[in-house]
Amino acid sequence: MQKSYCICLVILLTAAFIPAAHAEDSSFENLAKTPPMGWNSWNKFACNVSEDLIRSTADAMVATGMKEAGYEYIVIDDCWQVSRDEQGNIVPDPKRFPSGMKALADYVHSKGLKFGLYSDAGTATCQKRPGSKGFEEKDARQYAAWGVDYLKYDWCNTEGQDAREAYVKMSRALRTAGRPIVFSICEWGTSQPWLWAPGVGHLWRTTGDIQDCWDCSQPWGGMGLIHIIDLQTDLHPYAGPGHWNDPDMLEVGNGKMTAAEYRAHFSFWSLLAAPLMAGNDLRNMTQETKDILTNKEVIAVDQDPLGMQGRKVADGGATEVWMKPLSGAARAVILFNRGNVASPITVLWEQIGLAPGAEAQVRDLWAGKDLGRLKGRFTAKVAPHDVVMIRIQP
Ligand code: GAL
Repeated sequence: MQKSYCICLVILLTAAFIPAAHAEDSSFENLAKTPPMGWNSWNKFACNVSEDLIRSTADAMVATGMKEAGYEYIVIDDCWQVSRDEQGNIVPDPKRFPSGMKALADYVHSKGLKFGLYSDAGTATCQKRPGSKGFEEKDARQYAAWGVDYLKYDWCNTEGQDAREAYVKMSRALRTAGRPIVFSICEWGTSQPWLWAPGVGHLWRTTGDIQDCWDCSQPWGGMGLIHIIDLQTDLHPYAGPGHWNDPDMLEVGNGKMTAAEYRAHFSFWSLLAAPLMAGNDLRNMTQETKDILTNKEVIAVDQDPLGMQGRKVADGGATEVWMKPLSGAARAVILFNRGNVASPITVLWEQIGLAPGAEAQVRDLWAGKDLGRLKGRFTAKVAPHDVVMIRIQP
């Protein structure tokens, strides 16, 4: 009697808890099977955010073909929030967001897009707005009620806090908030989040803030494109479907790099299976910027279902070769010239795991041109601060 009562209880408890936990986990796990794509306000607009900006950006996302190319999330970064009310609820800036966040999320959703917000694990955000420390569950429930689909969660003003614990706390709050929310961890790579963040969030920043420059660096930790690329070299084993290294948002179109440099930027983000969060003004894009951000063949490299991050396979100092394995035994390859003079760069089939004598179809992804079936190697002359990006199909 006693024993069968026990067994029954165990079965009942198992039935009650395991499926629920599993169902909750599997929906969270499935939110970013490929790297998230969207737009974030910070790189171009900093604190100058408003509902007009977000509505017109959502309109532009559709009108420019960005949505059609796969961009989905519209994320408001820092500065949308001003205070907490007496019950501790977070209060959006009433001057900049007079219609409130629910109405704004509804508008973004009405365009077939998704809506994202930003908060911080500490007492205050980097721009000194209220942080979520001590309000994790309240904030998560509020975001879900507004219709938020994506949360970027920063790491300013967190003295004495443990990064893993703080992010796990918000991850749990989001999972039980009643709405699927992509969780973007932004602690700048300080505690090596690639070692603990898979399963906690869907993406994690790997570096300090990107700057709109080739190789500058700021005393506070901001850095140009090639410094960010160099810091990704050893991180490829940690990315995969549902969990991505995030080398920060795009600067393409923000004006301080050349078209070649922006092409290199976008090629690398795709080869690295990085989240593609545009950071420019979508309402005023040159054709050149639009052509880079919406190149479907380059985006397909980023979004390849295998979900493998690319890696460096040859290093000649000023010239490098990087390779990303794609589904169907294909490879994406970047011939990268980081130097100041045009140089021929070669990829050998054996550097990318193909037999030296094999024939493979080669396609130039920026020229949109088939280059034929080639045996053993491919060489191209690459302009300074530029790339040639190819897809190789054995
Ligand atoms: C930084 C973060 C940036 C941006 C900024 C807002 O910590 O890395 O991407 O969110 O805060 O204040």
